[in-house]
Formats: sequence, C-alpha cells, structure tokens
Amino acid sequence: MDGSNLLALVLFILPAYVANASPVLFGGGTPIDFGKKLGDKKRIFGDGKTWKGLVFGVACGSFVGIVEAGLLANQVFIVQGVLLSAGTLAGDLLGSFIKRRVGVKRGHPSFLLDQLMFLFIALLFAAPILASENAPFKLTIIDLGVLIILTYFLHVSTNYAANKLGLKKVPW
Ligand code: CTP
Ligand code: MG
Repeated sequence: MDGSNLLALVLFILPAYVANASPVLFGGGTPIDFGKKLGDKKRIFGDGKTWKGLVFGVACGSFVGIVEAGLLANQVFIVQGVLLSAGTLAGDLLGSFIKRRVGVKRGHPSFLLDQLMFLFIALLFAAPILASENAPFKLTIIDLGVLIILTYFLHVSTNYAANKLGLKKVPW
C-alpha cells in the first residue's frame, strides 16, 4: 500500500472515525434505552449510549461526508458518509448491547468490541455503496486488513489521549 492508497482509505473511513469520536465531546443526557432493563435485569445499552451522542455522532460524521463531496466533487461521498456514520453509531450500540448481555458494566473495557464493532457495522452499512458501480472507493482485502489494524491502534491511542485531556474518565 502506497501513500495515495492510504490517503484514499483514510478519506473513505473518516466519517466513521468522526462519528465515533464526537459523542465523547457532545454526548450525555438521556440514555437511548431510557434506563430500561431486559429480562436479565441488565440495561439494554446503559448510560454511556445517549440520544445526544447518537444525533451528534451521525450529524458530525455526515458533515465530514458533505465536506468530502464538495472537495472531491462527488456527491456519492454524502451518501457514503451518512451510511458510515449511521453504521458507526449502530455498531457502537450493538457493542454495548453485547457488553451488557455478558455482564460487562458501562464504561468497563471489552477487548475488540470497543475498538472494532463500530468499524464492522459501518462497513456493512456502506456495503451498498462499496458494491455499486459508481463507488468512489473500492475496499480491497488489503485495505480491510490495514483498516482493522489502523482503527484498533487509533482507538486505543485516541482514548488514552482523551483520558489525559480530561475528556474521558477511563483511558479505553
Ligand atoms: N456517548 C454518548 N452517546 C453515544 C455514545 C457515546 O453520549 N451514543 C458518550 C458517553 O458519554 C460515553 C462516551 O461517549 O461515556 C464514551 O463512549 P463509549 O466508550 O462508547 O461508552 P462507555 O461509557 O464506555 O459505555 P459502554 O461500556 O457501553 O461502551
Ligand atoms: Mg468505553
């Protein structure tokens, strides 16, 4: 993979990264599950998944897609950005749902679910674009491998930084 391939890959996934990070800055308030528990007496998602985080996450990620569409003169980036952002927040919710079901408390770490679930669901949401003829970006198997490694290490390092900056209580 050369520099231009990596740049294209980062431009492709950027809406997802922004969608994943912005709830840390703009989230909080009413939880998406409204405090409800399931039959297992555990919260559906927990207090870490809020409506404000959901709305800001999808909005900020989609905004990146809009900017990319303008800069690169290709409207498909808008749809792609919206799908990646919605997928990111859905994946984040799914991760928390699984964490609660297996008894991991809100804010406690879960290896791989925390770092990669959002990526997989974002890619799933973006699949119709990736598979379409006028896709601005084609994801190869090499790209996917690079993306998994890049996302993992970026997630770990940005969460560590967010904790040091006082934005997050925990470094994961
Ligand atoms: N956040 C939010 N709404 C979301 C997602 C995240 O408000 N839909 C905010 C919350 O303040 C959350 C923080 O971003 O605490 C960090 O997100 P994350 O690490 O995903 O949540 P956790 O608090 O660790 O909860 P969980 O154990 O469910 O992952
Ligand atoms: Mg967390």
